[in-house]
Amino acid sequence: MIILGIESSCDETAAALVTGDRQVLAHRLLGQEAAHAPFGGVVPEIAARAHVEALEPLIVAALADAKLTLADVDAIAATAGPGLIGGVMVGLVTGKALAHAAGKPLIAVNHLEGHALSPRLSDPDLEFPYLLLLVSGGHCQLLLVEGVGAYRRLATTIDDAAGEAFDKTAKLLGLGFPGGPAVERAAALGNPKAVPLPRPLKGSVEPHFSFAGLKSAVARVVGQYSPEDLAASFQAAVVDCLIDRTTRALQKLPFVSSEVETPLPRGDFSTALEADGGRDGAHTRRPTALVVAGGVAANTAVRGALQKLASDHGLRFVAPPLWLCTDNAAMIGWAGAERFTAGLTDPLDVAARPRWPLDPTAEAVRGAGVKA
Ligand code: KG4
Ligand code: ZN
Repeated sequence: MIILGIESSCDETAAALVTGDRQVLAHRLLGQEAAHAPFGGVVPEIAARAHVEALEPLIVAALADAKLTLADVDAIAATAGPGLIGGVMVGLVTGKALAHAAGKPLIAVNHLEGHALSPRLSDPDLEFPYLLLLVSGGHCQLLLVEGVGAYRRLATTIDDAAGEAFDKTAKLLGLGFPGGPAVERAAALGNPKAVPLPRPLKGSVEPHFSFAGLKSAVARVVGQYSPEDLAASFQAAVVDCLIDRTTRALQKLPFVSSEVETPLPRGDFSTALEADGGRDGAHTRRPTALVVAGGVAANTAVRGALQKLASDHGLRFVAPPLWLCTDNAAMIGWAGAERFTAGLTDPLDVAARPRWPLDPTAEAVRGAGVKA
């Protein structure tokens, strides 16, 4: 089985050819950093126009790299959301046109599902269910991945995503765009204990996240410390929050922590887990691993801390290689392969979706500036 994957939901245009037995035959990617850098963030209209220009040549190049033609492909998988709608439409419409012209099935992939299943592309032994920390520029969620298309959201951010906090902090510190890698490089030269910064929501019962206050705290002390010390202290605070919140989620999952020191008040999701017995009862099985995916998973400090947390809980830790953490088309091709194997294809009139939650049953969380 060979799947052509197409990704265009943010500021990376990408095409890849992936097989059902986990071979990445080709993957091409064109970032748009230079085009957006003067604005300090992604400008949707510039992104959409750049996708229009870049996508077709990238698909042609990826096919050439793999020494294949469209006739060799079994299905075409394109990101159909969530993301910047202009860019999503460029990729999805291109996927539809190719599927129609070549007479191949179309698979409309949720970009988040691409991230969520990406660790199964790099790790053939990763089985469902697993606890996933999905940390990217647009999302910060804890999900129980029970199967293809079966995601239970345990927590989300009440304001900014973790990657967004990295990007905003980089901007405050004058480190440029994109911010995550720049903050990580500066942090390596600084003292993580130099600046006292808050750990929003640390210790709270539900394992939700919040990062807006952390960014504001950095803004208040910019100029009083070196950018390196600020970057290191900020990164340490983010890691602390991610670990505290993920620990909370682990404590609330049956069969992970059988000994929780203090009895936990029954929060929303533990009640929900007990009430409906879980889809196919997967939650009654112990998660096979703690998994991290999304752009922020490329951060060495984040990976290291999660690795330790997993081993403290006797869980395997799985993180995709760095190139598979940030946006790419191989993860879309792989999610397409997983869906195709499950018999899931889509009609050519499937809609592009700017918002598309992985767990449609999850309720919006209440907080300052709710982002569902
Ligand atoms: O998954 P991704 O490529 O795109 C989205 O779907 O959002 O994630 C991009 C985010 C950006 O916010 C970027 O700053 C962050 O991931 N990021 C990092 C690192 N590399 C990328 N954050 C921290 N450390 C990194 N090394
Ligand atoms: Zn992404």
